[in-house]
Amino acid sequence: MDELPACHGGTDSLPEPRFDFSSNANALGPCPSVLSAIKRADLTRYPDPRYWRLREQLAAAHGTLPERVIVGSGASELIVRLVRYFSGAVQQLGPTFSEYAHGARLAGRRLCTARSPKEFLRVQRRHPGVGFLCWPNNPTGDLWETEFIEAAVSTGPLVLDLAYAPMCEADMRSVVPDASRAYRLYSPNKSFGLTGVRGAYLIAPRDEPALTSLAPSWVIGRDAVALLEASVKPAAERWLKENRPQLHRWRRGLAKGLQDLGVRVQESPASFLLAEVGKATRLTAALRQRGLRVRDATSFGLNRHIRLSAQAPAARRALLGALKAIL
Ligand SMILES: Cc1ncc(COP(=O)(O)O)c(C=O)c1O
Repeated sequence: MDELPACHGGTDSLPEPRFDFSSNANALGPCPSVLSAIKRADLTRYPDPRYWRLREQLAAAHGTLPERVIVGSGASELIVRLVRYFSGAVQQLGPTFSEYAHGARLAGRRLCTARSPKEFLRVQRRHPGVGFLCWPNNPTGDLWETEFIEAAVSTGPLVLDLAYAPMCEADMRSVVPDASRAYRLYSPNKSFGLTGVRGAYLIAPRDEPALTSLAPSWVIGRDAVALLEASVKPAAERWLKENRPQLHRWRRGLAKGLQDLGVRVQESPASFLLAEVGKATRLTAALRQRGLRVRDATSFGLNRHIRLSAQAPAARRALLGALKAIL
């Protein structure tokens, strides 16, 4: 059988590089309290098939009901599941995370890519189905306006992908608009630097038992249960709050270093930025040969850009040195 074409431009099957700027996982991670919870997980047993205790804890943290919390094997799995759950087209606001398009392809749905918030609302009305908005948007860093999100939620089913919201400089709770009527997608493996553990969750605006039953049994393992439980505990929240400023200093330092090389930069409010480097695919390959992995943004439709995540000073120096030599 043919393999589906890879749609993520970052990770690859080669040995791990010395420095990885392609993943948006928090470079300050792993968060110690979350990691130690995972290490303590009893992997000799199946998890609770209903994940009830976990859903209760996540619900309490978000002020909702456990029935409205749906766990999945990463946000990617939940995105594909959501597309299958809703009938009709898939609307997205591009350039954006590739999994919405991948979900549409897998389910044989029409994909409608808007280029502006106004067009997104038009497309929602013209081709009903389910819409995906990423906040902040991967890869551009856009934070969509409250009024726009409220209009989109009123127009049709809307999924708000909040994968990078906890890593933003501003406190998301004060900025994310009337999100309670949207399907909110949380992927704490990013902010706690543990993307190898495949666990994420969705908060639905109402009880949606069919969304849970669309998944295979035991869709996440006990490692992911431990990660999700620990992610809403005070120790993890404290760690993130204390470490976020460092991450943003690293991102700003990277942006400054790139600008000093004459590279145009578009910073996100989270940990990543877009750098305009010219022939992105060729540069990505040249950097990979030097032990540096970056995210070629060509698959986002940005063939002159690479996406880079904030990394520690040694990695930044290595990248800037290599770029200076290549460019
Ligand atoms: C915006 C966004 N949402 C979701 C995901 C996938 O998250 P997970 O690792 O939970 O599948 C990613 C991964 O890159 C992402 O960029």
